[in-house]
Amino acid sequence: MIVCLCAGISDRDIRAAAAAGTRRCADVFRAKDRQPRCGSCIDLICDILGENDGRDTAGCSGGCG
Ligand code: FES
Repeated sequence: MIVCLCAGISDRDIRAAAAAGTRRCADVFRAKDRQPRCGSCIDLICDILGENDGRDTAGCSGGCG
């Protein structure tokens, strides 16, 4: 499923980045050599990143801690 329409980032991309140690939303974009634009996907990216370690990402502003 495409999570970020602006940058073409999928849930698989995010899970792969998380499995490789990515913990910050910004690093997901960096890993794909892309930039966020509208920002509407940030909370969902943080939620998917948080699935791996159970972190509470409520209120995430894109940095994911
Ligand atoms: S949908 Fe991700 S930056 Fe716009």
